Parts: sequence; structure tokens; C-alpha cells
Amino acid sequence: MSKPKVYVTRKLPENIVEPFQKYFDINMWSKEDEPVPRKILLQEVEQVDALLSMLSDDINDELFQHAPNLKIVANLAVGFDNINLADAKKHDVVITNTPDVLTETTADLAFGLLMATGRRLIEAQEYIRKDKWTDWAPFLLAGKDIHYQTIGIVGMGRIGTAVARRAKGFNMPIIYHNRSRNEEAEKELGAKYVSFDELLTEADYVVSLVPLSEETKRIFNKDAFAKMKKSAIFINAGRGQTMIEEDLYAALIEGEIAAAGLDVFEKEPIRADHPLMKLDNVVCLPHIGSASVKTREEMIELCFNNFKNLFDGKDVLTEVK
Ligand code: DGY
Repeated sequence: MSKPKVYVTRKLPENIVEPFQKYFDINMWSKEDEPVPRKILLQEVEQVDALLSMLSDDINDELFQHAPNLKIVANLAVGFDNINLADAKKHDVVITNTPDVLTETTADLAFGLLMATGRRLIEAQEYIRKDKWTDWAPFLLAGKDIHYQTIGIVGMGRIGTAVARRAKGFNMPIIYHNRSRNEEAEKELGAKYVSFDELLTEADYVVSLVPLSEETKRIFNKDAFAKMKKSAIFINAGRGQTMIEEDLYAALIEGEIAAAGLDVFEKEPIRADHPLMKLDNVVCLPHIGSASVKTREEMIELCFNNFKNLFDGKDVLTEVK
């Protein structure tokens, strides 16, 4: 019997993909840092049984219509807002994501971003790079403490809880808002469930890790920023479309909040001339939440193991429903 055909929408390391060649006929887009053009993707999927997609690929009815044999799409991310689940269901295609393997890595990044923003680390390095450090001064690049500051986590799932664990190590009181109560986090970390508005008004660091959905789209808007403390720092390591960048920019310029650390944006990638890039009190990262070598390798393996299970007639490991 011939091997199932797989298409991978970015070039991935040969040594990780190679062990799966014995099970699948694998074809990959040739570039690592450039997405496959839509036209080519639509041609490629005509032949395939399985697709390994990135969060930047639009997986929708148009794609499914071009892919009569497609049985599974494994998305190399925990978020799956780039996939239209209703369309997938209509075409009887199984969708999987990569939870768990990236939890700690993404929490490391989110907490690192919080620290870098609060203590102005990037700005401080720029200060030396631009050769501005001529003298020591008592308030030179003085930032905001992290310890004893209240962290407000919006989206207390696996990654949110892992961030809360890090915050506990810094003696930060933890408040959170989530679709449902997270009793484990309450018991283990003393996290306190509050309303969204209460979180906005109480937190010194407002940290968003919430997935993108109809309910969470644009929740960080003018009203939300106005409710935050003037000294508050906003961190977004979830999805960019949960915020309105224009409102965030205005809140920063008008001093409604103190600073922001962003790993995600409304429309990615952003360029160097993006308005938020012009502000010293904003740290911008190119969506690298889960980007450690080990975690990215595990994410790729998980995608292939999902394919393997499906074609072996077993339950897939991490189905999204
Ligand atoms: C994900 O997996 O959804 C993250 O955003 C990647 O960093």
C-alpha cells in the first residue's frame, strides 16, 4: 500500500522530519522564513492526505475544496484561530494542535517579556548601543518592580497557570479572569478569580494569554485601557486580535497606562515603521512564544505522531473540536 502523502507548509529540520519518512511521503515548502504562496499551497493540497500547517496559514473552505483526499490538518501551534473549524467539520477533516509540549516555554517567554518591559531591559541595552551612557544617575532607566506587584492573568489555561507559577516565585499576588474557574490554580497558587473589570483596575501587570474567539476579540480596547492603573503594564502573549492596537497606542501616548510588552499583533508580521515600535515604553517581539529549539522539535513530532495515529486507525493525540 502506498504511504499517505503529507505536505508541510514551511521547511522544517531534516533530522526531525526524517524518522517519519518511513511512514509518509513528505513534501515540504522550500523556505523556512517565508510562507508558501497561497496559489502553490492550493495546488499542493490537491494531492495530499495530511497537511502540517503554521499559524500563519489560512485553513478554510477554499483550501478544503482544493483537497479532496485531505483527512487531517496538524497545526504547529496551540492556537488554532487560523483554522475554520466549521469548514473542517463540513469536509470531514480532523484538526489537531500542539498543547502541553509548549506550555512551559511559552510561559517562560511571557514572564520574560513582563520582566523586560517592567525593568526596561531592551531600552537599557539600546541606551548603551546608542552610546548614551556617559554617567551613572540615581533614576537612570528606573523601572517598575516585579516582586509584590499584582499580576492579573486573563486566560488561566495551561499557559496562564504556568505564568502564575512563575509569578508566585516572585511573590506577586495573583488575580485572574477566565471563562471558567481554575480551582487547581486557586488551591496551588492562591490565585483569586475576579471579574474582567476588577482585574483591569487592580492589576499592576495585566497579562493576556487568552485564545482568540468571538468573545475575546478586541477586549483590550479604549475602555479596557482606561480602566487600568496609570502605572499598569500590559503584556500580550496570546493573540494580537484580542487588542485594538490603535487604542493601545493612544493609551500609551496619553499616559493611561505605563508600558506594554507584546509578542503578538493584530496583523503579523509588523514592520519596523509600526507606530508601537516608535515608543520606548513598548517591547515588541516577533511572535516567539513557543520558540525554543527543543519545544519546536517536540511540536513537529507531535504533529507527525497525530498523523501516524490517524492513519494507523487510532485516536489522534490532540484533536481540536
Ligand atoms: C501558539 O502556539 O499558539 C503560540 O502562539 C506560538 O508561540
